[in-house]
This record gives sequence, C-alpha cells and structure tokens, in this order.
Amino acid sequence: MPKRQDSFENLDLFSVMDRSNGGQNRRRLETGSGSQLYKEGRTKMVANQIFAGLDIGTSKISAIIAETDDLGGMKVVGVGVVPSDGLRRGVVVDLEKTIGSIKKAVEEAELMAGIAVDTVYVGIAGEHIRSINSRGVVAVTGPDHEITFVDVQRVIDAAKAVSLPPDRKILHVIPQEFIIDNQGGIKNPVGFSGVRLEVEIHIVTCATTLAQNISRCVERADLGVQELVLEALASSYAVLGRDEMEIGVALIDFGGGTTDIALFFEGGIRYTAVVGLGGRNVTNDISRGLCTPVDQAEKIKIKYGSAIADEKQNDELIEVPGVGGRRAEEVPKSYLVSIIQPRVEEILTLAKREIQRSGYADFLNAGIVLTGGGAMLTGIEKLAEQIFGMPIRVGSPRGFGGLVGLAKSPIHSTGIGLIYYGIHKLIEKQNLPSEQNPDDFFEKVWGLVAKIREWLRKFL
Ligand SMILES: Nc1ncnc2c1ncn2[C@@H]1O[C@H](COP(=O)(O)OP(=O)(O)OP(=O)(O)O)[C@@H](O)[C@H]1O
Ligand SMILES: [Mg+2]
Repeated sequence: MPKRQDSFENLDLFSVMDRSNGGQNRRRLETGSGSQLYKEGRTKMVANQIFAGLDIGTSKISAIIAETDDLGGMKVVGVGVVPSDGLRRGVVVDLEKTIGSIKKAVEEAELMAGIAVDTVYVGIAGEHIRSINSRGVVAVTGPDHEITFVDVQRVIDAAKAVSLPPDRKILHVIPQEFIIDNQGGIKNPVGFSGVRLEVEIHIVTCATTLAQNISRCVERADLGVQELVLEALASSYAVLGRDEMEIGVALIDFGGGTTDIALFFEGGIRYTAVVGLGGRNVTNDISRGLCTPVDQAEKIKIKYGSAIADEKQNDELIEVPGVGGRRAEEVPKSYLVSIIQPRVEEILTLAKREIQRSGYADFLNAGIVLTGGGAMLTGIEKLAEQIFGMPIRVGSPRGFGGLVGLAKSPIHSTGIGLIYYGIHKLIEKQNLPSEQNPDDFFEKVWGLVAKIREWLRKFL
C-alpha cells in the first residue's frame, strides 16, 4: 500500500499539551488490514483501539466508529447518519431533538460496527467561536539548560495566561512554533539546549454555556464526552496534506448552518473563524424564490443546482412542486442558478474577508480546500476560483480503510477528522514521559495505596 501524505505523521504538527484519555476500551474487535497510516514505531502505541467521532451538524448528526490495527491502519467500521433538526447555525436550540438524533446516529453506527462505544470525540462550531494568537516566554534553568517537557508545559502555560471573560472558556491551545534563544521554527524543543524558551500558540475559545449544552446532549444520550473539538480543526485532519499545511492553505468547511475556516502555514494552524451561513441558507432561498417546500428545494438544489451558470448549458426546464396544494410549475435552470449564485458568492466572500482579516492571505500558496456538504454543489470550485483568485480543490476525508464508500463524502470530513484527532491525542499521551502522564501517575498512586493496605493488613 503506498504511503499517503496525509498520514498520522501530520498529526505531530498539532502538538497540544492537553492530556485526554485517548482511545476507549474495546469490547469486541474484528481484525483486518486498513490503510498504512502511521509510522511503524508508533503503530504499537495506538494499535487495536476503538475511536468514535460525533459530528453534531446543523443538517445531519453523524457518528463514526473506527478501529486501528497493528499494521498501522485505521478502518471505519460503523457509520450512522441522522437528519439534524435541533440546531441553528451550529448551536443547539432544541435539546430533546438533538439528544434523540444523537442516540439514533450512535445506535446505527454501533449496530453496523457490532461494537458499543461509551465515549466520543465531539465537534463544536458556531459564531461564538473566537481565536487569538499569543506568545509566552520562560527561562530554562535546568541542568545544562536542557529543555524538558516541564519547560514546554511552563511556556505554554505562560502563553495561555490571557484574560478571558467569565462566560468564555478555552477549547484548544495549539502551539505553532517554539523559539529557543531567538531561533524560531522549532516544532518540538525537548532535548534542545537554550536559555530562553518562547512559544507562539493559537488559542481557540468558545461560549461556556453553548459548549455545556452540547456536552449535556451527549451525556443525556448516555455517552461520555472525550473532548470537544473545533469542527474546522477536526476536518483539517481528514482532508489536508502535510505539504499543503507547510506552504500555506485555507480549509473552508461549507456546512449546512455554518462555514468554518482554518488557516495553516509552516505546518501550524494560524487562524480560525466561523461564518454563520451555509447550505441551509441556499436551500431556504430556493424555497422562497421558487415558492416550493424546503424539502423539495433541497432536492432540487442537489439534483439541478449549480453555483455558476454553465455557458454551454441548454436552459432545460425543471419541474418545481408548489406549496399548499398549488400545482407544479416549470422554471428554467438558469433561474435556479440565479437564486443560488448570489448566496454562495456571499458566503464565500465572507470567508474571503475572514482570510484577509487573518493577515495570512498572501501565505496561502496551496490555495483553498473546500469541504463539507456545501462543497458538493456543482460549479462551486469555479465560482470559488473567481472569488479567491487562488487554486481550489474539493477535499474529501482520506487515508482510511473499511467502509470507505460510506465515509469518504465531504459531509464526513468532521466525523473522520474527529477520529484522527483522537488517534493524535493518544499518540501524544503515549509520548509524554511517565511522570507527565496522568494515567501513569494515578496508577502509581493506586499502587502505593495498595502496598500500604497490604502492609497494614500484615502488621495490624
Ligand atoms: N450534492 C450536493 N449539492 C449541493 N449541496 C449539497 C449536496 N450534498 C449536501 N449538500 C448541502 O450540504 C449541507 C450539509 O453539509 P454538512 O453535512 O457538511 O453540514 P453539517 O455538518 O450538518 O452542518 P454544520 O457543519 O454547518 O453544522 C446542506 O445544506 C446540504 O444541502
Ligand atoms: Mg459540519
């Protein structure tokens, strides 16, 4: 199997020092070969684990279950997709509906996989997401000025000590680069010698209550939240190549209710933003413009819709069902395009404005990667090329085996990305020295307690 550029090797680009619990205990596992994804040396660390991703989108809720094998592959074994009706613009507005859809999607995926999951990585988006870049500096005081994990943690803590209003919380702290005695561009400073250690980090924050609402829905669906993950960050794991992230790329996840943007340069995430419009707005425009029910408008968009007029197109007539018992009418396809194009232009122009605001517009040498369901609209690449004046490609999740046919659609970029994120976190945790590893710490404490108990039993 050829080695893919979007392998787990990418994952050390986001060396986050948060310590989550990683993969969950497997209850039942079938073995089989998946695609060769991560370095041989790392295979053992994350082999034979089950990961589950839950994408709570505005249009659909999808649950994806995947397993890693000892050949270094990741295999999707269960996919559950249920229409979503409890969210507006990425934010939960109806708890009961959302809980019901989560339960259904997870049950569907579990049934397909023949595996029960108890914790999931969960996507989060919405206009409440904010991001800032911050810098921290510490003096290296250890023997021979050798930089240790503790120094790295200290400098990250210094960088993330920004004042936040009480209604906001930190979602991600992502180191972009380390600088040792003014020498920049260092991804992992551990083991280097230096006197002054600096770090540039990207901090993503969210509204505390909106994040709590998502967690509450998941917990009331009898699942544990392994971690909340920014959807655009998750999607980037599934669709971007390492070379693209190095030379500069913008990921635009064109969803149903939101359009999420993440910019990468020199291997690190530089900017994240969310535009509160998506494919649902396009569908609503069609529904109003053609005077047809929303579900019919959605079907018409998918079957005949285009983001741009095709010069060669013979202007075929489309049958449009009427609302409230009115009879169906025929409209030219060009009329449909004239409804879709301005809305898609508006959404992409708002995304462009965010990119310009970031200050990284001139660094996007690999252009733009469009993903999410909205990226499946006919002609969107051409329209995006005109708006951004950059190379555009549509990105689908890749680099995995198993139910590839079911999971390779751009609508699953976030779900698959959540699995890669989980694998990354597990690798990262395994790479921590044992005194830094919380699990090891608790194991040691419990070991000590057991020994004391044993000792007391003998002598009392
Ligand atoms: N073939 C297609 N052509 C055009 N649009 C499509 C197509 N398939 C799906 N879509 C649109 O994609 C959108 C759903 O995308 P996606 O599943 O990525 O959104 P979501 O994750 O549920 O929402 P969000 O991320 O905004 O919360 C819908 O608006 C749908 O109409
Ligand atoms: Mg989405």
